Amino acid sequence: MRFLVTGATGSVGRRVVDHLLARGADDVVALTVDPERAALPAGVRVVRGTVTRPAVLQEALRGVDRLYLAPSPATAERVVTAARHAGVGRVVDLSGEPESWWGAVTAAVEACGLPWTHLWPGDFTENALLWAPQVRERCTVREPWPDAVSAPVALDDVAEVAAAALLGEGHEGRALSLTGPQVLTRRDLAAALGRALGRDVPFVRVDRDEAVEALAAAMGEDAAWYVDTVLAGFAEGGAVTTSVVQEVTGRPATTFEEWARRNAGAFRR
Ligand SMILES: NC(=O)c1ccc[n+]([C@@H]2O[C@H](COP(=O)([O-])OP(=O)(O)OC[C@H]3O[C@@H](n4cnc5c(N)ncnc54)[C@H](OP(=O)(O)O)[C@@H]3O)[C@@H](O)[C@H]2O)c1
Repeated sequence: MRFLVTGATGSVGRRVVDHLLARGADDVVALTVDPERAALPAGVRVVRGTVTRPAVLQEALRGVDRLYLAPSPATAERVVTAARHAGVGRVVDLSGEPESWWGAVTAAVEACGLPWTHLWPGDFTENALLWAPQVRERCTVREPWPDAVSAPVALDDVAEVAAAALLGEGHEGRALSLTGPQVLTRRDLAAALGRALGRDVPFVRVDRDEAVEALAAAMGEDAAWYVDTVLAGFAEGGAVTTSVVQEVTGRPATTFEEWARRNAGAFRR
């Protein structure tokens, strides 16, 4: 069975390639913008291309049975139409709730007529890396809402769910809401980072503008959007966990604590 992974060097796509191989897939095609720089594992066939330019996907789609669709709301419809014409049998897409920014991917996939499985992640654990500059420089986390909540899910868990859904049966027609194992406040996350680093990382409550400034080192102009929409959304509460990672992969979802220990180096000077 042939699998095509699009966005194959992306933060999710690259890990989907690894998890497909680890789970025994032996015909994996990786679509990437720059095959020379991609450094994909031996045994993977690498094809030049991108979901943002669907006109040139015919070669990559030839003989493909199952497709991992990287998120590209503007072109998803053309990509899945090309996939259907090429005879692809199933799509696993990284997307989001219909009303979200990623909802255009969801709608395009559902409209194309192929069997689908949606992956709908919430907050990514790796978003904590947005704190890395301020933790390295000032050893604090500076945001307005200490009790804002999310249930962060690790990128690697999202990718492993994608691989399991591509390989396994029983996931068609399901929108898989992916979360980590715990609902955590921003203060909880900072404390867990502190434990991983072996020193105190206090959460310092600051106003909106100071939070934007603190995040700008990692995010540039997107920091204002992140504070005003994402963090303000977390402050409204309502975060829940799901057991989908465990159910689909057969192993527990990564805790924030585990992730922080593995990635502590990014927060050290
Ligand atoms: N519900 C949610 O929160 C949600 C839902 C869906 C997506 N997302 C977002 O999706 C991201 C993860 O998806 P991902 O792993 O595909 O994204 P990513 O890590 O941003 O990678 C995007 C990949 O797209 C490819 N690409 C294609 N055209 C490109 C271009 N013109 N310029 C640069 N790169 C181009 C590149 O890989 P190749 O060169 O290998 O093609 C690149 O590595 C998350 O970080 C999140 O922001 C979030």
